[in-house]
Amino acid sequence: MAVGIFDSGLGGLTIHRAIADRMPDLPLVYLGDSANAPYGVRKADDIYDLTTAATQRLFDEGCDLVILACNTASAAALRRMQEGWVPKGKRVLGVFVPLIEALTERQWGDNSPPREVAVKHVALFATPATVSTRAFQRELAFRAIGVDVEAQACGGVVDAIEEGDFVLAEALVRSHVDALKRKMPSPDAAMLGCTHYPLLAEAFQDALGPDVQVFSQANLVAASLADYLERRPEMRGNGTESRFLTTGDPKRVSDRAMQFLGRSITFEPA
Ligand code: DGL
Repeated sequence: MAVGIFDSGLGGLTIHRAIADRMPDLPLVYLGDSANAPYGVRKADDIYDLTTAATQRLFDEGCDLVILACNTASAAALRRMQEGWVPKGKRVLGVFVPLIEALTERQWGDNSPPREVAVKHVALFATPATVSTRAFQRELAFRAIGVDVEAQACGGVVDAIEEGDFVLAEALVRSHVDALKRKMPSPDAAMLGCTHYPLLAEAFQDALGPDVQVFSQANLVAASLADYLERRPEMRGNGTESRFLTTGDPKRVSDRAMQFLGRSITFEPA
């Protein structure tokens, strides 16, 4: 057994890396659905079907706990999965609540009523499917009042990253930040609501300017998982083997991952 980490493609590796850095002894099984990426332009039902199939694959691999290291799956499928699909004894967690908790200065499990927080104007950058669910806004509204959120659907960025075309990805980031600034000229914080985007964090920060605090998820999710496993150590499993699985071409995905993480990883067919 191990903890499963799922993403539509390579983006979840940003979360995997932060978790592995924080808990080097925790066995992790990563599954990237590169054959079906990007998810961000798909319909919610389609995202649900793909996400449940991938999560089942990780359960079959012996994982009791699966992290959806994909905001699109977390936003479009997680609640439906938790309400009617996740089998007894298994757990599926998403990635955007830790980000919202950081933005709203809350600890895990603080369910007190929404209150005023330091940030007032927040830019959200995410995939078109994530933006259309309004899940970030909903989670934020449970915790904070008086926060104005402007969401920018960043079409094309995930495709460019999956293709390894960072010149295009950075150009798209600049144009999406320009579009956001036309709607919200002076955000005081920005959320990178897609696990692929930490690779472009510098491009986002440059385009937004030094006064905007950019929140990205990897370390927040790793801290939140460490905390969760302290409370629920039985969900950790007792396996020792970490693996990387892909629905795409293992060689091609392994080459891209090298570019992504700066170290070599060997993907196996899922
Ligand atoms: N990394 C996924 C996310 O966090 C990208 C989704 C996609 O495949 O478009 O949303």
